[in-house]
Amino acid sequence: MTDEDFVKLLEELQQKIEYGEIKKYSKVVIHEFRNPSNLGNLDDSDAIGRIKGPCGDTMKITLEISNDRITNACFWTDGCGATIACGSMLTKMIKGKTLPELKEINCFDLLEALEGLPVEHTHCSILAINTLHKAIKNYYKKE
Ligand code: FES
Repeated sequence: MTDEDFVKLLEELQQKIEYGEIKKYSKVVIHEFRNPSNLGNLDDSDAIGRIKGPCGDTMKITLEISNDRITNACFWTDGCGATIACGSMLTKMIKGKTLPELKEINCFDLLEALEGLPVEHTHCSILAINTLHKAIKNYYKKE
């Protein structure tokens, strides 16, 4: 196989992967996964939630809270692309919200914002929401 053939083969493979992604995931999910917002940890966080989901992947959410309002939020995960999209979208959704407002946020809100996830990945949205609620619970425990 020549170098040219090899490059062509790689390009074809990349196209197949991208086509597969596009067929399976919404444009929003692909965008959030490829360009995640708020990825990392807040050093001076007021609340931390960390959960290992049934799939074995972990998500961590760190929050800065002032006057019962989320002033900053970050997430970290060792999970799949869908989880990265969930963490990115969720941290964007919660910034500026009050703690009572956060109690109302559930995985259906997150799935709606992401324009859905394949059924085998809906648990990734539950992991993200549960991690957020754990962080809030830990915040109240600390107070
Ligand atoms: Fe484990 Fe998405 S969180 S597969």
